[in-house]
Amino acid sequence: MGGYEPLYHALYELSSAAVIEEITKSGLRGRGGGGYPTGLKWATVAKMPGKQKYVICNADEGDPGAFMDRSVLESDPHRVLEGMAIAGYAIGANHGFIYVRAEYPLAIQRLTKAIQQAKKYGLLGSQIFESGFDFKIDIRIGAGAFVCGEETALIHSIEGGRGNPRPRPPYPAEVGLWGCPTLINNVETYANITPIIRKGAEWYSSIGTAGSKGTKVFALTGKVQHTGLVEVPMGTTLRQIVEEMGGGVAEGRVKAVQTGGPSGGCIPAVFFDTPVDYESLQQLGTMMGSGGMIVMDDATSMVEIAQFYMDFCRGESCGKCVPCRAGTVQLHEMLTKIVNHQATETDIEQMEALCQMVKEMSLCGLGQSAPNPVLSTLRYFKEEYLARLRPEVETFATAKD
Ligand SMILES: Cc1cc2nc3c(=O)[nH]c(=O)nc-3n(C[C@H](O)[C@H](O)[C@H](O)COP(=O)(O)O)c2cc1C
Repeated sequence: MGGYEPLYHALYELSSAAVIEEITKSGLRGRGGGGYPTGLKWATVAKMPGKQKYVICNADEGDPGAFMDRSVLESDPHRVLEGMAIAGYAIGANHGFIYVRAEYPLAIQRLTKAIQQAKKYGLLGSQIFESGFDFKIDIRIGAGAFVCGEETALIHSIEGGRGNPRPRPPYPAEVGLWGCPTLINNVETYANITPIIRKGAEWYSSIGTAGSKGTKVFALTGKVQHTGLVEVPMGTTLRQIVEEMGGGVAEGRVKAVQTGGPSGGCIPAVFFDTPVDYESLQQLGTMMGSGGMIVMDDATSMVEIAQFYMDFCRGESCGKCVPCRAGTVQLHEMLTKIVNHQATETDIEQMEALCQMVKEMSLCGLGQSAPNPVLSTLRYFKEEYLARLRPEVETFATAKD
């Protein structure tokens, strides 16, 4: 099927700079959530001084409802290994790590076998294709903490430390694994490398929208009829994904879709004609994230959805910084008060203020984005919050009052 031909082509026919140029021209952006331009990240690591550099594949995939990366690793692990080897050649690294969560035993098993096969055929290890390029890949198994998907926490975890994040800058591209320049990309990002090298940047950039190129895999879950993975060109509308491919909901009407996992937000059905790309989702108050798409019908309570995500974030907060550790607990308590009809409008105002504080003051992306599901449901479904407030209690003034 032409496997490892792009690696051969890169090693023998392209310079490292030419590989980076091709990835840059393709317009590929990181599929791990942030959408950072991949070519730019590779170029930054490539030009860092130092002999020892590393390539890391982020296969932590912690978003509830997301299983895009698992599917790639289980079905086509060689594609990811090849993408990492091409990255190693481009940035000048000869050692890569795949950080995959322990909850993915089949993916780990198949990756292990694929690495053994590649080594046996001389596609990994020393003197790949007798070209003078050496590249080895090791697997590191994470214990399944959401925060370990954050790049600096992931690096600490590989180093054998506690999976806590640290402030950036310096970014891993400058100071990464064991203090060395490190390239860290998502599974799906690496899976996009071989088709770009094989078919060219022009072909790749002909797919998608002006600012978001190529295709994106989404995990459709929730109340939708046909759950599963869909791969669509960037720019496909939410309606096509949820109603045509997903078949809508079984009963009632589609009310909203949640994208971006615990860092994202809910998009109401009135915006379903929006073409999906990094910018359009941000304008709607959510984000692409890694590709989880949870569909909600009109029986779903949006306040309870916000409460669910906050429960997730308070449990997954690593506790290193106070705004996230204490803020997510407080926000969860406030949401529970609203769900139980015990809150007043002032509580909602205080909750909004606390959301801003947690966003602005948290150390890493977990805390900085934890309030997003609350803010987006408040933006679009405030009436549901108001309907849950404490019922007005008749008060009778006493004679003394
Ligand atoms: C709390 C948190 C969890 C994250 N989880 C993941 C993850 O599971 N997989 C992933 O690829 N990126 C995750 N990221 C993003 C990574 O920090 C990093 O930006 C990404 O791996 C870079 O790869 P890309 O440029 O290919 O997207 C997470 C970020 C945060 C703040």
